Amino acid sequence: MSTAFRLSQRAAWAEGQPISDLMAQALANPDLISLAAGFVDQETLPVDATRQAVDALLTDPPDAQAALQYGTTPGYLPLREALLDRFLASNPVPHPVSTRQVVVTAGSNQLLHLVAETLLNPGDIVLCAAPTYLVFLGTLNNLGARSLGVTSDQQGMIPEALEDTLQGLEKTGDLARVKAIYLVPYFDNPSGATMTAQRRAEVVRLAKRWSRGHRIHVISDCAYRELKYTGDDEPSVRCFDEEGDTVIVAGTFSKSFSPGIRVGWGILPEDLVDPVCNQKGNIDFGSPNFSQHLMAKVLELGLFEPHVERLRVEYHRKLRCMLEAADEFLGPLSGVHWAAPSGGLYVWVHLPESVRTGPQGRLFDVAIGEGVLYVPGQFCYPREGEPVRANTMRLSFGVQSCPRIRAGLESLARAIAIVQRGES
Ligand SMILES: Cc1ncc(COP(=O)(O)O)c(C=O)c1O
Repeated sequence: MSTAFRLSQRAAWAEGQPISDLMAQALANPDLISLAAGFVDQETLPVDATRQAVDALLTDPPDAQAALQYGTTPGYLPLREALLDRFLASNPVPHPVSTRQVVVTAGSNQLLHLVAETLLNPGDIVLCAAPTYLVFLGTLNNLGARSLGVTSDQQGMIPEALEDTLQGLEKTGDLARVKAIYLVPYFDNPSGATMTAQRRAEVVRLAKRWSRGHRIHVISDCAYRELKYTGDDEPSVRCFDEEGDTVIVAGTFSKSFSPGIRVGWGILPEDLVDPVCNQKGNIDFGSPNFSQHLMAKVLELGLFEPHVERLRVEYHRKLRCMLEAADEFLGPLSGVHWAAPSGGLYVWVHLPESVRTGPQGRLFDVAIGEGVLYVPGQFCYPREGEPVRANTMRLSFGVQSCPRIRAGLESLARAIAIVQRGES
């Protein structure tokens, strides 16, 4: 008879996230049009650019051998230098940043995870926009940390609401548990919101003002920054950090080049570099080195910018398809509204209050019956703070072709109408 094993506390905290199961079940049906997955468009992945960079990398045996060897914990120096140069070229930061502060990770999720591990004890609080990136909420759960939602609108987290939340936490004696404010300031996943420069500045100012016994960091997750289709680029949140000690920037090539290569990075306050690298040292003592050399080569050969330009054109076209289809099919339904994002991969939709989009409501199953899948908005809400809006959903336009996006929205509109008829 085998002896029972006991899961760790961390494993227990990791449980209870039904979304992957839900998606796996639904995706078992190949006819389903998934507007759920946040994947990038398979057709636009840069096969030629990658081949060129790999060829160039493998041409010189010493270079190739270096790329095939283990690397260092913070990452491949020429890549870190290139990342910093690129960052500084478009962001006038008030406090100098050195290459030492750039740490390369296996995707930006790893950076977020390492930062969370470095800063948070069980019971510590991270303030997030409501809604926010659901995977990061999972990371916080995993650590036994508390996610607390702050009221947000189409320009992201509302500074006045952030201040009210901080005041409330001070009153309940919880301010000492607040360690970070998490933002996705460009074309947010899931809301599509982009923060104005003014709001960015205000959030950093509040983080500093409320850093009493200890510093409250601002984590600025820029996963979608390159995917901008209209409007001007906003300065990095780091530009408002006069002392350079508050803002952590997370970046990634997953959306702008290839998630299969999976290179992300962080630009950290100086005094966080060693603690984050200590965590990383114990996990993998360096991200896959070949991927890092490859991305350095992609940048060096000038293959990145033209690719991003092509992506912008293609995703902008798909966004327009989704918005046109939304106008046509969702527009006539009462109480259904959405906002047009200026970049990214998502459109966030509000339905009438009475319609619940999650697995407890009828819509999710009816929509699957009609052949379309979406992400129920409830999964994107922090556990505390701003109430969960169960009448919301995230639609992705990155993966499907325009005809399928259109067909997906037509099916979704049918499903909503069926559910609304059933209710009346
Ligand atoms: C907001 C946000 N941050 C981070 C990531 C992580 O991407 P990666 O780990 O591939 O860099 C994603 C991926 O979907 C995302 O949507």
